[in-house]
Amino acid sequence: MAVERVLVVGEGGRENALAWALARSGHQPRVWITPGNGGSDTIPGCKRLSIAAGNSPELIAACRKNAIELVVIGPEAPLAAGLADELRKAGISVFGPGADGAQLEASKEWAKQLMQEAGVPTAGFWVATNAEEGAAIANSYGRPLVVKADGLAAGKGVTVTVSCEETLAAIAECFSGRFGQAGSRVVLEERLEGPEVSIFALCDGRELLLLPPAQDHKRIGEGDIGPNTGGMGAYAPAPLLDEQGLQQVRTEILEPVVAALQQKGIDYRGVIYAGLMLTNSGPKVIEFNCRFGDPECQTLMPLLDGDWAGVLLACAEGRLDQAPELNITSVCSACVVAAAQGYPEATRLGDRISDSGADLSNNDSYSQLFHAGVRADNGNLHTSGGRVLAAVAQGEDFDAAFSAAYSRLAQVNFDGMHFRRDIGHQVRRP
Ligand code: AMP
Ligand code: GLY
Repeated sequence: MAVERVLVVGEGGRENALAWALARSGHQPRVWITPGNGGSDTIPGCKRLSIAAGNSPELIAACRKNAIELVVIGPEAPLAAGLADELRKAGISVFGPGADGAQLEASKEWAKQLMQEAGVPTAGFWVATNAEEGAAIANSYGRPLVVKADGLAAGKGVTVTVSCEETLAAIAECFSGRFGQAGSRVVLEERLEGPEVSIFALCDGRELLLLPPAQDHKRIGEGDIGPNTGGMGAYAPAPLLDEQGLQQVRTEILEPVVAALQQKGIDYRGVIYAGLMLTNSGPKVIEFNCRFGDPECQTLMPLLDGDWAGVLLACAEGRLDQAPELNITSVCSACVVAAAQGYPEATRLGDRISDSGADLSNNDSYSQLFHAGVRADNGNLHTSGGRVLAAVAQGEDFDAAFSAAYSRLAQVNFDGMHFRRDIGHQVRRP
């Protein structure tokens, strides 16, 4: 049966991309998004509500009022807080794990232990509960470590150190309270080397459906230098993993993780995002997330051809084996993020955004503009977050796709706007 009414929860570019993809999928369901952002109302077929992700009673009431058949939860924080559990208790189908499964992302220690139990390749690790213990581990290891606050720290809790002094400083920083409760336990990891790739697997509790691999660009600076960000651009399908490589990731990483979750009695219905490093000794897990990547999601959504809403509902109902067919268009997708003045450090907000362009779609390329840190004010858009928007485009090859994405971005302007000009350098011709 066709899905007709879907609610997306979240306020980033990722959620706008999800809403956009859902609204054009299958039988073109009506889509609501809450709380969304200043760009959400411009998505064809999408209506914005103003209920916060933390307000489950109002969300349940809105689902009943609008006869919502499927809720898709975008960000990790409401998942970790148990929003999916609350909605499921009210009889609503949800794409997104419960608080139990969301620990894959919400506790790095929990995820590492699960990987160890499941025999999943990942970096060796230790857990410290205070600074002295951390320093003792670092000193006896004798080489620089990766220092990770255990809990959710809005993507800022990881320091890849390059000297033992830096390792000790990062451990001290975590225990100094910089990340609040999230840093009261610290995971110390051996440093891996190799290119990174993001894998997204839809999981209905048992079965898996993998999307094409994507590559993110975490650093702020061209040439992959400078501080980490939420992600400054992406492309898909990333040629880093071929069909055989993906199959290896499925059998050596994803299937064992699902089996380990099942063993703990966890019925994981949502996306498993595996952040992998392709090391000399094969793919290893850097981290798991319990949601789509941002901006990988914006990059991947335009590649989907079929009943996306039907697939996510089947996943939410634990029957992925009966899901409608999802085809992946065989083109290249490119995504470039524009950030606000100062991001990722002190970010200036409130700059007026002008956009003289329209989303283009012709025989050579397609493009989309997904808003993120944007608020609407008297019909005008202003910056309201660090990553402001993403220009996405598809083409026959990555050169064409990136050329169209950068052309789309050239139509946008706001004071302090900055973006990397080298996104996709790995796959573009010089
Ligand atoms: P996260 O905030 O968890 O996404 O991690 C940020 C970045 O830190 C990752 O994208 C990797 O580039 C890096 N990183 C995390 N763990 C390791 C590790 N064990 N070895 C090398 N780099 C790592
Ligand atoms: N793009 C990385 C993330 O969503 O965590």
